[in-house]
Amino acid sequence: MKQVNFKGVNLPAIGIGTWHMGDNLKTYAQEKATILYGLNHGATVIDTAEMYGEGNAETLVGDVLQEFDRQKVFLISKFYPQNATKERMKQALNNSLKRLKTDYLDLYLLHWRGSVPLSETVAGVIDLQKEGKIRHWGVSNFDTADLEELYGLPQGDQVFANEDLYNLANRGIEYDLLPWQRSRQLPLIAYAPIDQGDSRGQKLTQNSVVQKIADVHQVTPMQILLAWTIQSEDVMAIPQTSSIEHMKQNIEAGEIILSDSEMQQIDLQFPGPDSKQPLQMI
Ligand SMILES: NC(=O)c1ccc[n+]([C@@H]2O[C@H](COP(=O)([O-])OP(=O)(O)OC[C@H]3O[C@@H](n4cnc5c(N)ncnc54)[C@H](OP(=O)(O)O)[C@@H]3O)[C@@H](O)[C@H]2O)c1
Repeated sequence: MKQVNFKGVNLPAIGIGTWHMGDNLKTYAQEKATILYGLNHGATVIDTAEMYGEGNAETLVGDVLQEFDRQKVFLISKFYPQNATKERMKQALNNSLKRLKTDYLDLYLLHWRGSVPLSETVAGVIDLQKEGKIRHWGVSNFDTADLEELYGLPQGDQVFANEDLYNLANRGIEYDLLPWQRSRQLPLIAYAPIDQGDSRGQKLTQNSVVQKIADVHQVTPMQILLAWTIQSEDVMAIPQTSSIEHMKQNIEAGEIILSDSEMQQIDLQFPGPDSKQPLQMI
């Protein structure tokens, strides 16, 4: 599996998303087995949030962690914007840790911006870091102006990563946000890297160029979409799946190297932005 270097920490380029998981008792065992398969095959980053199923996804991840070495997992969770005050985030984190059955997170993200001043949120996460309850802190759904504001705050530049929507159908952040992050060595975690499995907007996997490149590599079009997302060294993708077969494919996509010519053919089909685009979120 290709690795990314996030501020000196080596991590796999493909992690595991968990949105909509842990909600259904009938699929619970299958979901648990799928995440465990991913961990056992090198996808050792898990992305979850207190929001997902109001704690159900964290509970599922906590159950998986009973069967895997916690120290070998880079565990990410997120707090709601309304829990972004110093006091409320302490409680939110304790609740998350209880569900996850662990005593620390590797990365704690503000899920999206709300009305709590950013300065209070930064002071809060730094307190949690000092207490040893989180190793790193970061943000999600931040655009360039949000990051500029963050970097203007004391210790704001200690942010570990920004997690935003990024896939072949949503390349807007390439115009200014990604270059801005790159110039400050701030890595990107790409969410919905396969556009929620083709269920939104464009049917990326039905594109003839994507299909042709998939045929050349003897992989599925979905694997090409995923491989495209992580062609840069500072981008990690966190696809979600409840299928062991898909998890296997997603991990294998972490090995695919697209040639310059293939990247150019893809660019012609799905051009990058030529002006500032509003940040896309789901
Ligand atoms: N920070 C944020 O605000 C934010 C927002 C959205 C998402 N996220 C995070 O990002 C993760 C990923 O995003 P997402 O779940 O919205 O969308 P996604 O990962 O782009 O797509 C998930 C869908 O793709 C399907 N899929 C996965 N691998 C596949 C494969 N190899 N072949 C065919 N289909 C495949 C899955 O179905 P199967 O189960 O059938 O495989 C599922 O329906 C989330 O789970 C969450 O952890 C964060």
